[in-house]
Amino acid sequence: MERKKNIKVSEEEIGIQGSYMKQVKSLNTPDEKKFIVQTFGCQMSESDGERMAGMLAEMGYAPAEQVEEADVIVFNTCCVREHAEKKILSRLGQLKQLKEKNRELVIAFGGCMAQQPHVVDKIKKSYRNVDIIFGTHNIHVFPELLYRVITGHKLVAEVPDIEGVVVEGLPVMRKEGLKAWVNIMYGCNNFCSYCIVPYVRGRERSRDPEDILKEIRQLAEEGYKEVTLLGQNVNSYGLDVESGMTFAGLLREVNSIDGIERIRFMTSHPKDFSDDLINAAAECGKVCEHIHIPFQSGSTRILEKMNRRYTKEQYLGLIQKIRKAVPEVSFTTDIIVGFPGETEEDFLDTLDVIEKVGFDLVYTFIYSKRTGTPAAEMPGQVEDSIKKDRFDRLLNLVYKIVEENNHTMIGKIEEVLVESKSRNNPKILTGRTRTNKIVNFAGDESLIGRSIDVKIVSQHKWYLAGELL
Ligand code: 5AD
Ligand code: SF4
Repeated sequence: MERKKNIKVSEEEIGIQGSYMKQVKSLNTPDEKKFIVQTFGCQMSESDGERMAGMLAEMGYAPAEQVEEADVIVFNTCCVREHAEKKILSRLGQLKQLKEKNRELVIAFGGCMAQQPHVVDKIKKSYRNVDIIFGTHNIHVFPELLYRVITGHKLVAEVPDIEGVVVEGLPVMRKEGLKAWVNIMYGCNNFCSYCIVPYVRGRERSRDPEDILKEIRQLAEEGYKEVTLLGQNVNSYGLDVESGMTFAGLLREVNSIDGIERIRFMTSHPKDFSDDLINAAAECGKVCEHIHIPFQSGSTRILEKMNRRYTKEQYLGLIQKIRKAVPEVSFTTDIIVGFPGETEEDFLDTLDVIEKVGFDLVYTFIYSKRTGTPAAEMPGQVEDSIKKDRFDRLLNLVYKIVEENNHTMIGKIEEVLVESKSRNNPKILTGRTRTNKIVNFAGDESLIGRSIDVKIVSQHKWYLAGELL
């Protein structure tokens, strides 16, 4: 059988962008110019932002702390919910004064919002301070767009309407030296009826396993201890390319890389969580006992309208199965309240799942209508006051359960990967358990970067306090 391949951007194209990077760099020298990338949204967006920052650093720009100091400002945007979009546009509007003060300032607008034609029209019409518009599918051409703007000073907008590509070999500027995001795939094929992501990020494209493993080996050499494998639905990794590598297989490979101590992954779609993956999670010592597995709604009726392709019972069955294989596992999830047609009874099903699973963290979202998605046209849009009331009740239950779970941790000894000094108190160190809970404890900063045993002594709303053993 002919092997399907992902659509990789050619080395030649990456080379061309490399020469644009050099040209921009020579234009910048000897001045010290600065950049800031403002990222909004999920970890995929964070990861894109790290590549944008990597390219800017390669072009001779140094990171700025504030927008006021920057010569290039990049808005790396998110369009999952309307509220976030509005906030981003208002922040973009505020940059007008900076542009008036500094005509040389370059403002770039990229990410998921820029992948929507109506947003691009709006930016072109009403946000004249923007110089570059680029989409999620072509962040690799950013050096060329920047070069064109700084040499010609005209708006350049390039938002390709394509299914998407896989880009390798771009420089990455990661924020810290201990934990790294590693994209293993891009895009999504699921078309949950409320979600805009498949429209702005294109179809699923898996990176080649060799490219991923090479990147992780490199990270291990640089001293990174933890990797989080990223994708909209990591469970379907490899299915689009027939490389023979599944997500479970990839986990086993990453598990054998020396130097990497912890492996995390997100996001998992319940419908694709295979038995082989459960086995891999159980048998790979470095795979952490934490699984982020969004259920969105506890009502089978609503799940069907959401096009999630599992029932409440199947979800609960999966949780049980994972728990049996990985007894210490901690679950976190995403929930939407107020999906069109959601009744009080449906909502009670959601509360029921939260209680039955006992999540350690729940990302709760109020349903937001996204133009172009099927749910936006569905009858029975829920009134704002009802959404708000359900949201508050949901949060109260989540707080109660998180607190109960944290109480059971008191007295236990946990392996903590020490990340940094606490922001509020330099005598306190902060790190995370394998189950991804934050632990604060008194200790010497020489422990940063090490995995050590800490005894949990008390629980606070969002963290545990511990004592060094
Ligand atoms: N409204 C509210 N929440 C949404 N999400 C995705 N689309 C919407 C929407 N239209 C939430 C889902 C998803 C998380 C990343 O964002 O819970 O898992
Ligand atoms: Fe959106 Fe569903 Fe894809 Fe997640 S799996 S990105 S919620 S369409």
